[in-house]
Amino acid sequence: MKILITGGAGFIGSNFVHYLLEKYLDDEFIVLDKLTYAGRLENLKEVIDEIIFIKGDIFNKEDVEKIGECDVIFNFAAETHVDRSIIDAGVFVKTDVFGTYNLLEYARRYDIEKYIQISTDEVYGSIENESFKETDILDPSSPYSASKAGADLLVKAYYKTYGLPVLITRSSNNFGPYQYPEKLIPVLILNALHDKPLPIYGEGKNVRDWIYVLDNCEAIDFVFREGKVGEIYNIGAGNEKTNIEIANLILEELNKSKSLIKFVKDRPGHDFRYSLDTQKIREQGWISRYKFDDAMRETIKWYKENKWWWKRIWR
Ligand SMILES: NC(=O)c1ccc[n+]([C@@H]2O[C@H](COP(=O)([O-])OP(=O)(O)OC[C@H]3O[C@@H](n4cnc5c(N)ncnc54)[C@H](O)[C@@H]3O)[C@@H](O)[C@H]2O)c1
Repeated sequence: MKILITGGAGFIGSNFVHYLLEKYLDDEFIVLDKLTYAGRLENLKEVIDEIIFIKGDIFNKEDVEKIGECDVIFNFAAETHVDRSIIDAGVFVKTDVFGTYNLLEYARRYDIEKYIQISTDEVYGSIENESFKETDILDPSSPYSASKAGADLLVKAYYKTYGLPVLITRSSNNFGPYQYPEKLIPVLILNALHDKPLPIYGEGKNVRDWIYVLDNCEAIDFVFREGKVGEIYNIGAGNEKTNIEIANLILEELNKSKSLIKFVKDRPGHDFRYSLDTQKIREQGWISRYKFDDAMRETIKWYKENKWWWKRIWR
């Protein structure tokens, strides 16, 4: 099977490429990535000889054409940082919505076997109590989540209109190796390692539901193999934590003072709590395999031991 992973040089995409290469020895893997600031060949350093890498932008039809034929598409490619989307939403619409449209058209032309859209829990918006189900309405708050929601609707429409064999995964917040140090957990780890202030929005009470990236990779693979075409699957591991809890945990693990925590002005439209109901995927047989505390310890250790990876991008 020829498998295309767009955005495979980013955080989750590169973890997914490593995961696939270890698990499926007979398949061929193509990575198409624009190599934005968040996409780095360093993330694929150990496996670059085992894949076909194409530098390309999913927004450009000509770049998508460079792929040639393939059987399966996993679309990880996206602009992903909420703060950046507040400053400049345009590139989010271009990549996350129009780029998805280009891939869907390509998928139709080549009659691909399955198209898997990697979406996010952020499309549902915030929830005070209880958890979102796949059938809940989309109520995104940021230009990032709105672009992702737009892409999800387009993907569903290609299923209904053209019968394209699509699946959508919506996972909660990921953490693990190769995450660009602008996202909460790598920022907190690297700042703590350097005795720099740990910036926390508002009062630090916002709640996120964390999943270790390898758990998400397994779940995405599970959805691809076992999921029902046309369906959406929430993916989460049930680790709801406030941002201040995360900061405290990292400081404790690194033996650093809590006085490093610095509260900063809250982000506009900041969702208070994300929470996913994951009954659907669990009923089909997927289980989360990684314990939050162990995975966090592994992640902290990885950043400590891999200075080569972050020294040029952390400030
Ligand atoms: N990180 C999370 O916690 C999380 C949670 C749920 C869902 N997701 C989704 O998972 C996917 C991957 O997220 P991530 O955290 O790995 O993001 P990331 O920002 O680390 O990586 C995104 C990758 O996409 C590439 N890319 C960006 N624009 C492109 C374009 N126009 N053409 C081709 N490639 C392009 C980048 O170069 C980069 O390699 C995204 O679709 C995101 O919405 C992420």
